[in-house]
Amino acid sequence: MNQHEIDRRRTFAIISHPDAGKTTLTEKLLLYGGALQAAGSVRAKRNGRATTSDWMDIERERGISISSTVLQFEYEGYCINLLDTPGHRDFSEDTYRVLTAVDSVIMVIDAGKGIEERTRKLFEICRLRNIPIFTFMNKLDHPAKSPLDLIGELEEVLGIGAIPVTWPLGDGPDFKGVYDRMNKQLHLFSNRGKGSAKAFDQLTGADDPRLQELLGPQYYAEWKEQIELLDIAGESYDEEKLLCGKETPVFFGSAINNFGVQLLLDFFVQHSIPPRPRPSNLGEILPSRDEFSGFVFKIQANMDPNHRDSLAFIRVCSGMFTKDMTVPNPRGGSKPIRLSYPQRLFGQERETVMEAYPGDILGLVSHGNFHIGDTLSTIKGLQFNEIPIFPPEVFRNITNLSTSKYQQFQEGLEEMRLEGVVQLFHMPGSLSRTVLLGAVGELQFEVAKHRLETEYGAEVRLDDAPYTEIRWLEDGIDASQFSGTYMGSNVRIATDHAGKSVLLFPDQWACDYFAEKNPDIKLFKPTIAKDASLA
Ligand code: G4P
Repeated sequence: MNQHEIDRRRTFAIISHPDAGKTTLTEKLLLYGGALQAAGSVRAKRNGRATTSDWMDIERERGISISSTVLQFEYEGYCINLLDTPGHRDFSEDTYRVLTAVDSVIMVIDAGKGIEERTRKLFEICRLRNIPIFTFMNKLDHPAKSPLDLIGELEEVLGIGAIPVTWPLGDGPDFKGVYDRMNKQLHLFSNRGKGSAKAFDQLTGADDPRLQELLGPQYYAEWKEQIELLDIAGESYDEEKLLCGKETPVFFGSAINNFGVQLLLDFFVQHSIPPRPRPSNLGEILPSRDEFSGFVFKIQANMDPNHRDSLAFIRVCSGMFTKDMTVPNPRGGSKPIRLSYPQRLFGQERETVMEAYPGDILGLVSHGNFHIGDTLSTIKGLQFNEIPIFPPEVFRNITNLSTSKYQQFQEGLEEMRLEGVVQLFHMPGSLSRTVLLGAVGELQFEVAKHRLETEYGAEVRLDDAPYTEIRWLEDGIDASQFSGTYMGSNVRIATDHAGKSVLLFPDQWACDYFAEKNPDIKLFKPTIAKDASLA
């Protein structure tokens, strides 16, 4: 069944620290796919134009991309699905969840800075799923760390084997190009491709006499030594280790100059993997299975004022999706759901999808009938493993300021909880007009406030909440039983949306202290490791 369509699918995301060049690289990749006519359509951030991957007002106002977009394009016979992950100052559970829907990732690193914090966090999620990771060392046209140090960082900081496929010749003003170690070819740096067109790569042999001329005898000798060192180290690329995320092939280049990008893309389409089998309660579901299956990894409400609705993003895992097909209701009940109005998205543009294959992402119009983690399938009783819940790292109190808008406030918060924008907690004794919000990234609070005000007409205020750590208690344990135990003056009890007891701590120290004083009380944190390994 449709094996050809499955084999040519490549579904991936780009992970990076803010400003490393993810948007720039995305744009260049789209140029190769012919999906953009000119660069600048994805990132037109600074001049205030809506960008291809921007949806919400707040994104435009702040010139950042919050929601994840899906971009599909064709390249050399491959059908590529690129899932955009929010990459700027802030990020959220959405970023993590997107990584449960991809088969591989490209990791972009600013070669002047090396591995930064956000990259490390996102990398951890990828590692848990053992997915192939391709590394692009960007901004070689700027002064960069030594390539040997950068490779060393990948191994020491991330603990992943690094196999340089290309190797740079200099950096900053002395950046001359990259050497393709696999094909023994030299690609001379040219910034003629800057901005809009594919860069022009000149190829010569590795022993071309012009090389020495180009680098000067001293640098040439140094460079030759590095290449020989890499060769002696015997590190050659191992397909199996790449496919399970134990080794990453590394490329050097400059996204803004469109240099080194095509080498990365060509290698990527050939060596990354088509959709993989997916674990479920019925065992692994092969993409080639005839029956349709997929899961909801993201819900986005009211993305566009012209289309006031929610979209549930579905990753197709097996079979073929066809417009208007029906599947059993994932929320139970005897009435099947018709999957109508399937959309493919390209930034703000939507296009109706008639059919989709494993690896593809669909947007389905949702009227509250889909939840994150839902399995949609014609396979009876199928349940893909749940999408993990990520422990919140930041907290704010949100207060409803208008009594007449109380219902809108409650409805809006509940909708955002279901969408996974924020998690909700209630403090005993606090007024019901104040709710404690938890999230992975600070920006989520602003998104929640903005949406409560613009979409639900509520009036709200955000206040700081002095917690950084949260722990759940064992099921069925009520925190009121803690009388007599050491609570500490700044430990607070609350309940989550399901009524389960949680404890909130101002810092890790307070949490550790509580655990030490109360060894009989079991504290739980929904660890990413535990849940994500199921994905
Ligand atoms: P992000 O999505 O990962 O946050 O990064 P983005 O692509 O927005 O790039 C961040 C900044 O780095 C941008 O500069 C971009 O032009 C620059 N950049 C990207 N790739 C390269 C590269 O290969 N070399 C150099 N020198 N710079 C690069 P900016 O000043 O923030 O924006 P703009 O003024 O260029 O629009």
